[in-house]
Amino acid sequence: MKTVCFALMLCLLSCGTNNNQQSSESKASSNTTMSQDDLIETGQSLFLQKCSSCHAVNMNLTGPALKGVDKRWHNKENLYAFIRNSQEVIAKDAYAKGLYESNHKVQMPPFADLKDNDILAILTYIKNASISARH
Ligand code: HEC
Repeated sequence: MKTVCFALMLCLLSCGTNNNQQSSESKASSNTTMSQDDLIETGQSLFLQKCSSCHAVNMNLTGPALKGVDKRWHNKENLYAFIRNSQEVIAKDAYAKGLYESNHKVQMPPFADLKDNDILAILTYIKNASISARH
């Protein structure tokens, strides 16, 4: 009986290890395996590197405050596309056009290298930072 239990445990342990390996390999390309905390952490570092010179979460700088931004965009694809190349979306989307015009036609630089998961991470960070802000 003991041997059976032991064998079962070994199997469970090795199955568990396999899963972990898989999830760390696919972490970079898929969002299903990244935990909320990982997303927030990745998002924060991307935001500080690439966005914080023009954006804050709760305050307008060169660019608008990003608090609640995911709710202002009804079409998520356009939001992702705007972050990758704002001019492309300004040309076809009325909300983006209005935003550009009300921001003195300051162009946001394109971030073509951001993957879906990077953008999701940044948006998750923004959401989390808006919730934890006191004001
Ligand atoms: C050089 C300044 C600059 C940088 C850097 C910048 N942005 Fe912007 N961003 C703007 C401006 C200006 C606007 C307003 C729209 C426009 O003028 O095109 C804007 C608008 C936005 C909007 C739409 C806001 C809304 O209220 O709907 C999002 C989302 C956004 N930026 C995300 C980002 C992200 C994410 C990064 C970093 C990867 C970033 N921006 C980096 C200047 C910048």
